[in-house]
Amino acid sequence: DGFAAERLFSQGYSYTYDDVIFLPHYIDFPTDSVRLSTRLSRNIPLSIPCVSSPMDTVTESHMASAMASLGAIGILHSNLPAADQAALVISAKSRRVPLLSSPVFLSPSDRISSADDFDSKPYVLVTESGAADSKLLGYVSRSDWESLPEKEVKVFDYMVNSSDYVPWNSDLGRIDSYLEEKKRDLAVLVKDDEVVDYLTKDDVERIKGYPKLGLGTVGEDGKWMVGAAIGTREQDKERLQHLVRAGINVVVIDSSQGNSIYQIDLIKHIKLNYPRLDVVGGNVVTISQAQNLIQAGVDGLRVGMGSGSICTTQEVCAVGRGQATAVYKVASIASQYGVPVIADGGISNSGHIVKALTLGASTVMMGSFLAGSTEAPGAYEYQNSCRVKIYRGMGSLEAMTKGSDARYLGDKAKLKIAQGVVGKVADKGSVLKFIPYAMQAVKQGFQDLGASSLESAHDLLRSKTLRLEVRTGAAQVEGGVHGLVSYEKKSF
Ligand code: XMP
Repeated sequence: DGFAAERLFSQGYSYTYDDVIFLPHYIDFPTDSVRLSTRLSRNIPLSIPCVSSPMDTVTESHMASAMASLGAIGILHSNLPAADQAALVISAKSRRVPLLSSPVFLSPSDRISSADDFDSKPYVLVTESGAADSKLLGYVSRSDWESLPEKEVKVFDYMVNSSDYVPWNSDLGRIDSYLEEKKRDLAVLVKDDEVVDYLTKDDVERIKGYPKLGLGTVGEDGKWMVGAAIGTREQDKERLQHLVRAGINVVVIDSSQGNSIYQIDLIKHIKLNYPRLDVVGGNVVTISQAQNLIQAGVDGLRVGMGSGSICTTQEVCAVGRGQATAVYKVASIASQYGVPVIADGGISNSGHIVKALTLGASTVMMGSFLAGSTEAPGAYEYQNSCRVKIYRGMGSLEAMTKGSDARYLGDKAKLKIAQGVVGKVADKGSVLKFIPYAMQAVKQGFQDLGASSLESAHDLLRSKTLRLEVRTGAAQVEGGVHGLVSYEKKSF
């Protein structure tokens, strides 16, 4: 019944996730026993198969630490100076909580004269010099300040004296007990005499309310694992030096067409100079592209060209591939060399994640799925009474003006051509909440297929036990909600 993937994907069509559907198999285990543990690249184990895209509206420190806390990983974008990208790495790795409060610091001799001095934060922290790397002396709470009759105050006169702190690598449980024992609302995190961040009791309660996923992604250094993107220009070698010093665990070479002499030379350079650093190459969509990068020594392959929600590459350049076909083809060769595949772009629901993983990917990389979350960079704005955040392609003119043109131009082209757009996505809340739900949905999909893990899904694929079919246009309409005048779209 149905077709094996090998036959379906060898008929000359470029299929995307929505074009194909899997036939259900046999269930002999409960949903909760499905294991989603996997690898991003040869040496980076993850407990869930999710990766955040190196895009400047998706992954900065907050997203990277939240993804790591979920057992996933974030790849920091490179659309900023090398030193600033390295600072994002350090920031993401300098705490073991999935939060970034970005404290405001003042010294005792500073004055607070308006609410702006709190920068929308509930506390300002007071240190000797008013900088993060000086002795912690105490804090001023915004609610205390608001209740003062005289608003122009000297910090020294109103601060709560307290040099109490918890170590930077305290987990949520430890911080919770600290707040409980000390009867406090605030836990300041300190690392090597430098104040890293703080957490309030409300933060802890909120995070405790989210579903638990299990182990976070922690490296040998005891810190969150974090990846970072670089381009293929000569100056990217210097950028990489900064990033390695900052402690990255994996580097992703960010190219829309990765099968190039520039990338192959860079992979060889990295493998020679940083033998302990995993390198993800890409992007590729064909077997021969993948073979070239595997031969050059990559530890992981990123697959996708023009499948992203903000991409216009296929329209502008007439190259690319349907994402289901691309993932299947590249994974079929990469698996022979033990190189994990990242299915990058085009994920807009949990069914797409099931399809990508079952067709051979080890992880999915997501942009739009994560943009609009609390942890994505940028402030919320309102559009037609909807809370939205900006999400833009790294090949959009706006992003390229800031520097990301390396990914799309490769060399020194003088005329910039956009290969992406700028848009807005709705507020989705915290990734700490919706990723666990998405993973539960993926487990249910795996259960329907009779796959209790990613390895067993890949075994079903290769043994041709996995059967699939192409959906006609009408079948796709039938597979979605239809025939209703209106309905409320809520997944959890
Ligand atoms: P999703 O569908 O998750 O896709 O939003 C994210 C992926 O899209 C790629 N990307 C681009 N591709 N033009 C492109 O052709 C662009 O401007 C662009 N920006 C990002 C990238 O692979 C990302 O992970």
